Amino acid sequence: MTAPRVFPVNVEPCPHDVLLGDGLLDRIGELAAQVTAPAVAAVVSDDNVAALYLEPVLRSLREHGFDPLAVVVPAGEGSKCVATCELLWARFAAAGIDRHGAVFALGGGVVGDLAGFCAATWMRGVAVVQVPTTVLAMADAAIGGKTGVNLPGGKNLVGAFHQPHRVIADVATLATLSRRDVAAGLAEVVKCALLEDRAALGRLAAAAADLLAARPAALLDAVSLGAAVKVGIVTEDPHERSGRRALLNLGHTVGHALESVAGYGALRHGEAVAIGLVAAARVAAARGLAPEGLVGDVARTFEALELPVALPPGTDHAAIVAATRLDKKSRGGVRRMVLPLADGGAALHDVDDAELLAALA
Ligand SMILES: NC(=O)c1ccc[n+]([C@@H]2O[C@H](COP(=O)([O-])OP(=O)(O)OC[C@H]3O[C@@H](n4cnc5c(N)ncnc54)[C@H](O)[C@@H]3O)[C@@H](O)[C@H]2O)c1
Repeated sequence: MTAPRVFPVNVEPCPHDVLLGDGLLDRIGELAAQVTAPAVAAVVSDDNVAALYLEPVLRSLREHGFDPLAVVVPAGEGSKCVATCELLWARFAAAGIDRHGAVFALGGGVVGDLAGFCAATWMRGVAVVQVPTTVLAMADAAIGGKTGVNLPGGKNLVGAFHQPHRVIADVATLATLSRRDVAAGLAEVVKCALLEDRAALGRLAAAAADLLAARPAALLDAVSLGAAVKVGIVTEDPHERSGRRALLNLGHTVGHALESVAGYGALRHGEAVAIGLVAAARVAAARGLAPEGLVGDVARTFEALELPVALPPGTDHAAIVAATRLDKKSRGGVRRMVLPLADGGAALHDVDDAELLAALA
C-alpha cells in the first residue's frame, strides 16, 4: 500500500492535514485515531454513499476504539437544510456525543457541509473528520472549513467556519461515480490549474481518457492539483477576509447565473462552471489581460473532459448577464469577475454588460 499524499493546512484554531490516497477507506479508524481520541462518533452519510461505503468505515472505526453511530440522510441538496440539522442533533444527543465526541462526514459536498455545520454547532463545536467521496468534495468542498446549510431564501445562508481535524480522501471511492459526475468535478480542478498552474491544463487534457474512466492514479494526480491550490489559498485567507479566497470564485459568476437561469439541476454545477471559466478567459483575452491562446487551451481541456464550453442553445444571454449582477462579489450594482491574468494568476475586475455579452456570444 502506498503512503497517502499529505497536504498540511496551517490554520488556527485547528492546524490539520489533507490525506489523499488510493485505499484509505479501510484505514479510516487508524488515520482518525492519530488526530482525535477514539470516542463515541457519528458517521453522517447519504443513502447512495452509505450503501457503498458505510460498512468498511464503521468496521475500521470499531477496530480502532471508536463507538460509531450511523446517521444516513437522503442524497441530494434537499438534505442540506435546517430540518436535517435538527434530526442530526437529535441523533447526536441520543448517542451521547459529548464535547470529546467526533463527527465523520462520509460523502460529497452536501454531506460535508451539513455534517460539518452540525459538528460546528453541536456543544459549540466537536471534532469533524471529512471523508469526501466526490471529485468536487476532494478537490474543493472538504477543504477550507466552510460549512453550512441552505434556507428557502438562498444557498449556504447559514453557516460557520469549522476546520476539520483531518480530511481523508480515498480516490478508490470515485470509481462508483458516473462519468458525467467525474467530469463535472474536474471542472474545479481545471479552475485551480488556471489559477496557479497553467501547464497542468495540457496534462489534464492528455489524461482525460484515464480520468473519465476513473483510473485511481490519474484521479489522484488531478485531485492533488486541486487540493494543493485550495490548501494554499485557504491557508493565506482562512476566513475570506483578504480577498485571496475570492479568487476561488473564478468561473462562478457566469456559472451561478447559468444555474439559476437554466434552473438548478438542468446542468451539473461543474458544467456551468466550465462554461463560466471559458467566458472569464474570453473577457480577459479581449481586454489584453490574458493571451488569446488561453481561451483555446481552456476550451480544449474541457472538450477533452467532455464538458461544455458554450451556453446551451436557446439560453437567454441577456438573462444570464442580468443574473450575474446579483453575484455576491458585485459592489454598488457593478459586476466584478475574477479574470485569469497573463502571468498565471488571477484578479477581480469590474466587467460591464457589453463585455460580458460579447464573451458569451
Ligand atoms: N464548503 C465548501 O467550501 C464548498 C465548496 C464547493 C461546493 N460546496 C457544496 O458542495 C455541494 C455539492 O457537492 P457534490 O457535488 O459533491 O454533491 P453531492 O454531495 O450531492 O454528491 C453528488 C451525488 O453523488 C453521490 N455520491 C457521492 N459520492 C459518491 C460515490 N463515491 N459513488 C457514487 N455516488 C456518490 C451522492 O449521493 C449524490 O447523489 C453543494 O451543496 C455545494 O454548495 C461546498
